[in-house]
Amino acid sequence: MRLDILTLFPNMMTMFFEESILKRAQKRGLVEVHFHDLHNYSLTKYGSVDDYPYGGAAGMVMCVEPIANCIEKLQAERTYDDIIYTAPDGEMLSQPLANQLSLKQSLMVLCGHYKGVDERIREHFITREISIGDYVLSGGELAAAVIADAVIRLVPGVIGDEQSALADSFQDGLVAPPEYTRPPEFRSWHVPDVLLSGNHAKIEQWRMEQAIARTKERRPELLKKQ
Ligand code: ADE
Repeated sequence: MRLDILTLFPNMMTMFFEESILKRAQKRGLVEVHFHDLHNYSLTKYGSVDDYPYGGAAGMVMCVEPIANCIEKLQAERTYDDIIYTAPDGEMLSQPLANQLSLKQSLMVLCGHYKGVDERIREHFITREISIGDYVLSGGELAAAVIADAVIRLVPGVIGDEQSALADSFQDGLVAPPEYTRPPEFRSWHVPDVLLSGNHAKIEQWRMEQAIARTKERRPELLKKQ
């Protein structure tokens, strides 16, 4: 998968991709991530990328030209499956959406800022708008990093043990069951016996019961969706 991220603040983003699973995915050639600083596509001498909104509202709007220039340069090099805009009024990010995006070959993500982008960008270039929650961030960079993380870890081969991604919370509409590791006893706090029993069928059954009980307790609305 190739991911192109268009942002006013590339430095804010790069660190997320330089550690752990995201770093390994790139090193192993499974994912390529490229950052594009929109200041470099400005038409003005000072590299300005925003301007006052028509009609006199408060705040600044990201200008159409630098974004259109950047998107079109990238589109001339390859085809994109989706051009995503991060926005609080977009479709809510969910595990099924992350699954769907993880199967794409090339994605572009435009990070919004200030009051947002000139609407003509949304009308003419954006194919998908994604929100990461019902709250307003000061910019789309964190949202783009969240989307990239949720998607990249699902790209086939990124997580060594494929089972591990499949067993994630939400993957089967349930939250994940509790996990334990060594030691089996700490301050007289015991790991449940069944996990030490070696009986895989029983362990699976216990995990499923725990997942259902936890979902009922913590996220009952997930059970109603099924
Ligand atoms: N930009 C600002 N707030 C956002 C949100 N909640 N999700 C995605 N992009 C955003």
